[in-house]
Amino acid sequence: MKRPLIFSLALTLLASAVLAQDEIKIGEFASLTGGSASFGQSSHKGTQLAFDEINAAGGVLGKKLKLITEDDQSQAGQPATIVRKLIAQDKVVAVLGEVASSRSLEAAPICQQSKIPMISPASTNQKVTEIGDYIFRVCFIDPFQGSVMAKFAQSKGWKKVAVLTDVKSDYSIGLAQAFKEALLKGGGTVVKESSYSTGDKDFKAQLTSIKAAKPEAIFLPGYYGEVSLIGKQARLLGIKVPLLGGDGWVGDSLLKVAGNSLDGSFFSCHFSADDKSEAVQGFVKKYKAKYNNETPDDMAALGYDSVMILAAAIKKAGTTESEKLRDAIAATKAHAGITGSITLDEKRNATKPAVILGIGGGGFQFVQTVAP
Ligand code: PHE
Repeated sequence: MKRPLIFSLALTLLASAVLAQDEIKIGEFASLTGGSASFGQSSHKGTQLAFDEINAAGGVLGKKLKLITEDDQSQAGQPATIVRKLIAQDKVVAVLGEVASSRSLEAAPICQQSKIPMISPASTNQKVTEIGDYIFRVCFIDPFQGSVMAKFAQSKGWKKVAVLTDVKSDYSIGLAQAFKEALLKGGGTVVKESSYSTGDKDFKAQLTSIKAAKPEAIFLPGYYGEVSLIGKQARLLGIKVPLLGGDGWVGDSLLKVAGNSLDGSFFSCHFSADDKSEAVQGFVKKYKAKYNNETPDDMAALGYDSVMILAAAIKKAGTTESEKLRDAIAATKAHAGITGSITLDEKRNATKPAVILGIGGGGFQFVQTVAP
C-alpha cells in the first residue's frame, strides 16, 4: 500500500524525535588538525573510548550518550564559533575541551554565559576555571606544574636557568611565570629570558643570546612542535645543558622531529603508560585494542577521565538540567580516574600528582611522581 507523503513525513519526524529523546548530546571541540593536532587527536580518542564503553553498558539514565565533535584546526577564533554552534544548534548539555589553554579560554566565557558546563581535560592555565562556576578541569594547574619543575631543577643542582617563552600562548606565559617564581623562591636565578611566537621555525637568535648567559638548564614551557625545533637548533649551536619543560612537550612528533637532541632533558606531565597500576594497565590495553596498538598519552587518559566524570555527574544529578548538572560535577570527589584520584576543589580544579619523565634512548623514561 502506498502511504500519502505527508503521513510518511510525519512518521519520520516522530521516529527522529523519539530517537533524539533517547540520547544525551555532548559537544567536544578539539584540535584534530593544525599545529597541535597531536593534542586533539589523542584527547578525542580517549574521549571516544569512554563514550563507547558507557554506551555499550547501556548509557546513562537509560539514554545513549551522543558525542558531537568539531575540529577547531588549532586555530584561534574557531573555538568560539564551534562552541556557539554546539550550544545553539546541537543543543548539547555539556562541552568537553580543549587541551590548549588559549583555546579553552576562548570558549569558556560562552559556556559560562549559556550555563552549559564545560570540562577541559588538559588545560592547565590558572585562568581557565576562573572564567566562572560552569567551567571545570580534570587536570592539575600550572602553578603546581611550574613549581614541580623548579624544584626538580633545584634537586639536580641547576640554579642558573634561562627561560624561553611562547608569547602567543597563555599556557606558556603562565607556566613560565610559575616556574620563575618557584625557582627564585628556591634560591635559583633566571639568567636570561627570551621569547618566540607559536608557529616560529627559527630560534637561533634567541638561543645564541641564551648561550651567552651560560645557563645550567633552559626552561621551555612550549608545545611539542616548537620545542622539538628548539631542541635541534640548541644542539646545533653547541648548547649542551639539559632542557626542561611541562606537559606541552607531550606529543607524537616530539622525538620524531627532535631526534636525540632532547636526550638528557626532562618534563612534567600527567600520566605514564608504564605505570603498573591496574587502572592504567587496563586502560592501556583497551586503548591499544581499539586504536591499532597505539600507546595512549596524557591527553588520551585525561580525555577519558573527563567523560567518566561527566557521565558520573549526570547519573548522580538524575538529570541533564544545567544547574543540577553543574552542581553534581562540582561535587566530584575521589573519582578513580586513569590519571589518579580526582577531587574537584572549590575553584573547580583537580589536585593531583604530576609525573616527571626523562628523555633518552629514543623514548621517555619515568623519573618520579610528585605529589601536590
Ligand atoms: N596543559 C597544556 C595547556 O594548558 C596542554 C596539554 C595538556 C598538553 C596535556 C599536553 C598534555 O595548554
